[in-house]
Amino acid sequence: MSTHDPTTLRGLLSNTRITFSLLPGLGIMIILRMAIHLYRPDIEDAENRVRDHPFEQLYDCYDIIIVGAGSAGAVLANRLSENPDWKVLLLEAGQDENVLSEVPVLFPVLQTSSVDWQFLTEPSDGYCLSMVERKCRWPRGKVLGGSSVLNAMLYIRGNKRDYDNWESMGNVGWGYESVLPYFRKSEDIRIPEHQNDPYHATGGYLTVENFAFEHPITRKILEAGEQLGYSIRDVNGEIQTGFTRSHATVRAGLRCSTAKAFLRPASKRKNLHVSVHSLVEKILIDEQKTAYGVKFKKHGQERIIRASKEVILSAGSIQSPQLLMLSGIGEAEHLKELGIYPIVNLPGVGKNLQDHIAMGGHSFLFDNPYTNGTEYCFNINSVISIGGLVDFSVNKNGPLYSMMEAEAMAFVNTKYQDPSEDYPDIQLFIAPTADNMDGGLFGKRANGLDDATYAELYEEILYDSSFSIVPLLLRPKSRGYLKLRDANPYSPPLIYPNYFSNPDDIKVMAEGARIAQELVNQPALRELNARPNPRRNPGCTAYELMSDEHLECQARHHTLTIYHPVGTCAMGPADDPGAVVDPRLKVYGIKNLRVVDGSVIPIITNGNTNAPIIMIAEKASDMIKEDWYEVITEELCPVEVDNTYRQSKVTEDEEPTKIQLNPPNLFNETACLFPLLDEKLASNPFQNKKDKKSEPKKDNKQDIVPSSENIPKQILKSVARKPHLHSSYNHLQRKFNSRPQNPLRIYPYGPPNIQNQYPNYGSNYGQIHNPFYQYPKLGRRNPLKNIFANLQPKPLVYYNNMDTIKDPVYYETSEGITPEGKMKCKIWLYNNGKKYEVVL
Ligand SMILES: Cc1cc2nc3c(=O)[nH]c(=O)nc-3n(C[C@H](O)[C@H](O)[C@H](O)COP(=O)(O)OP(=O)(O)OC[C@H]3O[C@@H](n4cnc5c(N)ncnc54)[C@H](O)[C@@H]3O)c2cc1C
Ligand SMILES: *[C@@H]1O[C@H](CO)[C@@H](O)[C@H](O)[C@H]1NC(C)=O
Ligand SMILES: *[C@@H]1O[C@H](CO)[C@@H](O)[C@H](O)[C@H]1NC(C)=O
Repeated sequence: MSTHDPTTLRGLLSNTRITFSLLPGLGIMIILRMAIHLYRPDIEDAENRVRDHPFEQLYDCYDIIIVGAGSAGAVLANRLSENPDWKVLLLEAGQDENVLSEVPVLFPVLQTSSVDWQFLTEPSDGYCLSMVERKCRWPRGKVLGGSSVLNAMLYIRGNKRDYDNWESMGNVGWGYESVLPYFRKSEDIRIPEHQNDPYHATGGYLTVENFAFEHPITRKILEAGEQLGYSIRDVNGEIQTGFTRSHATVRAGLRCSTAKAFLRPASKRKNLHVSVHSLVEKILIDEQKTAYGVKFKKHGQERIIRASKEVILSAGSIQSPQLLMLSGIGEAEHLKELGIYPIVNLPGVGKNLQDHIAMGGHSFLFDNPYTNGTEYCFNINSVISIGGLVDFSVNKNGPLYSMMEAEAMAFVNTKYQDPSEDYPDIQLFIAPTADNMDGGLFGKRANGLDDATYAELYEEILYDSSFSIVPLLLRPKSRGYLKLRDANPYSPPLIYPNYFSNPDDIKVMAEGARIAQELVNQPALRELNARPNPRRNPGCTAYELMSDEHLECQARHHTLTIYHPVGTCAMGPADDPGAVVDPRLKVYGIKNLRVVDGSVIPIITNGNTNAPIIMIAEKASDMIKEDWYEVITEELCPVEVDNTYRQSKVTEDEEPTKIQLNPPNLFNETACLFPLLDEKLASNPFQNKKDKKSEPKKDNKQDIVPSSENIPKQILKSVARKPHLHSSYNHLQRKFNSRPQNPLRIYPYGPPNIQNQYPNYGSNYGQIHNPFYQYPKLGRRNPLKNIFANLQPKPLVYYNNMDTIKDPVYYETSEGITPEGKMKCKIWLYNNGKKYEVVL
């Protein structure tokens, strides 16, 4: 496979441009966080958030210990603690959900942040060739709710045949007829036309809606789908083949993770203890090969807790097999190599790894039919803007409610699949955006696309109206595996997904890309002059655009995981040598140990995996209740156990600890989503040079601004030529007007009487009917050196006492240059005539 130089000058320039936009990006995010704090107590939901049970007050023994509070673990914790006689402990390595994760449009921001485990696959020559170091990024949630906090919220159950296949492999009780009731049990569908439908249900914990905001281009693409001969239908109902607006796990338009859906309502039960920041290092197994507890660590303190009934592993498809191996369950040879005593030789642990992959970079340009400046597709400059924030905070609507990676989708058949079977082999994600539309801030970072590829594909079409039709291979034949790196529970495992190792997979993928092209040729999209991005992946320039070779090359370069790794602790009958758990999800050869999460899926489902995993956990909960029905285990968990860990004796009747609601730390919560900011600053080439070269100067003022002599001339020029990211976008103004005539930013000295000056404006932003979308940023007039001066984030400072602000009247931003030539970028908040200043 031909490849390319990942370190081109264009790449460096592109990277530099993106770096400049990180700080303004952080600024706007802080304002969003602040706005949520002030206007959206429904999102903070402080009363109902899951509270961490104090370490000292954890019991020494529970009936059930669940490891991992992800999609599956949260469901189990709720269902198993329904029985008040069972004491349930839920251990989660991560923290509570970040408030910002509720905002659908921020979906890609969460990846590579502190709520992401940030796994990387081992480098490959067959896939992810355009990714940094040829490694694919595998985000996974490290947070209450697990990957359901990071995911794209798409609710897809899969195809009936998936489950019938599982059953025909010997997994009794997993056929479609048996699992449908468990899909319905969780569900609270709020899409009116499905509410009285035998495939759906209302009243469950998990809310399913359509996304609350849709970009106009999405409707056009659905129209094109119909023109191509497909119907728009409920792909979670009787027939899967067709197009649909996405069903999503959102509630009132906001993310409905399993933590929100299942844990918050259960977390006040006295028999359920949730412990966060608690990483389980090992499952403890005795000489009878019975799992009797776990060893975990929280804030450096180690602790052993016993389980009288069972330990349930719900650490996800990567860490459940990892923990089994660390505990001596896996391929004996591999364990011995690492010095782990093999208790049970189960060669299937970590094998049978399956994932859904898509071909990235399949983006199309089109002409915006609106002549008044309104966007037809997602554009970060208009979405993440003051106007967007106001819509979101006050009016509870607007583009922050969009999940622009797949507002709609389709299940379609390539020439390799008989359409009469209703077993589509390609899923299309319909995205009213492409990686050019976020300026490289998020999509590029999330996927790990290298600088040269991003620059080549997108820099020249930055913010030009685009959409993507992303073809996803539904039933891969390739299988990967994962292994332990070493015996340390804190080392990420070695991941070898082996994408495209079966040659059929790349053929189907290329055909999927052709269907996307056919779609674009339909009248509805022709009308908009839709056309493929003519720029080719730099690794594939040898091939003609849209030739088989080109599509295959693109698939191998721009390989995107759709984040569905499953199968690594596969369920199967006893005579299946690769099976790790039996059809009741009990680990072979070990008593009182189950695995319940995506890793037990024997063959990946025909669609996204969150809903199937929630279903699995619902069904498992019933199996666990059945299996322990009338079994007395009390003697295994004596009431008077070793109390050394308890500071004070806690009985079940005691009141839970007083609820303490600390004010949120807005800056930290937000900054943790921008880990790259620190990294970039640390490696800022200009700053480093300066540090090395110059002695500390006495005149501090001069010192802040690195001299432009240190900046390579070409970069200076290139950045200056590309003002987009440092400009504002105003719907009513010409595109990328860097200084829109916007009243929001013309008050440098406090609030005049806003109503007199702008009679159309109410006393509150909430009453602005046609908000201006703007991005308060460093303007194009400001020389480069001033941008550098602002690259040092300072903590949020509140003048006057922030706690007293209840109802701010409005925000205001300003930018400019101080008399000393320093950049000034300020945000103020007004309340009852008082001015509060937020210093970034
Ligand atoms: C970016 C992204 C987008 C996605 N988009 C979609 C989508 O739109 N629709 C869809 O259906 N699916 C989507 N998925 C997939 C779906 O979210 C996952 O398949 C599903 O959430 C996995 O559930 P799980 O219970 O198997 O594991 P997880 O939800 O990953 O839960 C595992 C939990 O265990 C914890 N844990 C791990 N190790 C330990 C340990 N040693 N000790 C304590 N705790 C531990 C983790 O921190 C985590 O909270 C997406 C996934 C990602 C990452
Ligand atoms: C621009 O025109 C479109 C189509 O007529 C309309 O839907 C939209 O509201 C207009 N935008 C503004 C800001 O007037
Ligand atoms: C905020 O972040 C800083 C730097 O990472 C850290 O030192 C500080 O303790 C954090 N504060 C809180 C309240 O989390």
